[in-house]
Amino acid sequence: FAARQVSRSAFGLAQRRAFSASASNATKVAVLGSTGGIGQPLSLLLKLNPRVSELALYDIVGAPGVAADISHINTKSNVKGYSPDGDGLKGCLSGAEIVLVPAGVPRKPGMTRDDLFNTNASIVRDLAKAAAEHCPDAAMLIISNPVNSTVAITREVFKNKGVYNPKKLFGVTTLDVVRASRFISQHKNTDPANENIVVVGGHSGQTIVPLLSQSGYSLEGKDLDDYVYRVQFGGDEVVKAKDGKGSATLSMAMAGARFAESLLKAAQGQKGVIEPTYVDSPLFKDQGCDFFASNVTLGPNGVEEIHPVGKLTDHEQGLLDKCLVDLKGNIEKGTNWVKENP
Ligand code: NAD
Ligand code: LMR
Repeated sequence: FAARQVSRSAFGLAQRRAFSASASNATKVAVLGSTGGIGQPLSLLLKLNPRVSELALYDIVGAPGVAADISHINTKSNVKGYSPDGDGLKGCLSGAEIVLVPAGVPRKPGMTRDDLFNTNASIVRDLAKAAAEHCPDAAMLIISNPVNSTVAITREVFKNKGVYNPKKLFGVTTLDVVRASRFISQHKNTDPANENIVVVGGHSGQTIVPLLSQSGYSLEGKDLDDYVYRVQFGGDEVVKAKDGKGSATLSMAMAGARFAESLLKAAQGQKGVIEPTYVDSPLFKDQGCDFFASNVTLGPNGVEEIHPVGKLTDHEQGLLDKCLVDLKGNIEKGTNWVKENP
């Protein structure tokens, strides 16, 4: 018995060593917009992630302060803050393998995400230019809204610089799945940890398409309409509640950190890592949608396999049809804007 105990604990130790060896791979992660409502808690969560060895924080204001604060947390990663002065952005991005971009303005009540386009398009374009120059091979995780368009903007910038890799560009739509899973658990009184509702499409209003039927749920009538509305307009719930002081930040930080963790796991060799994300996708290109969010298997090189949307009910097909119309317009808007404003 004692021998068995010893060998079991030796096995446990070996497992722990194997884990910490893979978890200690050197990975530099950059956050652009790190002083903001999302940027700060996202940076905090990344500091707690043992897979991150270097955390580079950039913002037009205050990143060195956020970095100094976070750097005292007793995890191994080194944290450095960068300002726009001198070569700040270059220093932040050089050597980065993952770049998260939550830079830009959030909504106020009454605004759509598309209303942010005029301000955020140029912010994302300029940051994408810097990334294309200083870390062209990094995975780009775009959080800044309107995501349906800012991802297309990033693609155009990378294409213009001749470094576009469709496997490394991600619109972060994780929050939609987090919400869809939480909201059904509230409705059905289940454990949200066991819910993983498929959400496809884009990240705004009716481009967000939850596919409840694929998790075996069959809500009907008002219950179904209310559920779909809540998933599609969950962001507005937060915007309204914050009453002019911004949009979702804490839940978004969790969602962004979860997506980064999945990419890191896949990069460090874990198999079968699947996340929903908005990527350059063949699924609806023939309908003018170059980008589409669906479940994606992640691998060491980024996108490994794009999963099809799967079987839909007639109701879900109706939602998808509406989604594709809006999404096409949002993608074209981003693409055309860079052509006019390179
Ligand atoms: P915020 O205003 O609190 O923070 C934005 C930060 O970006 C600020 O610190 C600002 O200084 C910085 N910034 C502005 N221009 C910059 C530039 N050129 N370079 C670097 N940093 C710059 O806003 P927030 O609440 O953190 O939201 C940020 C963005 O994320 C918004 O566009 C919001 O709509 C979006 N968002 C997306 C999702 C999603 O699911 N993808 C969820 C929530 C919010
Ligand atoms: C969200 O879904 O919470 C974000 O896209 C922010 C917003 O504007 O609603």
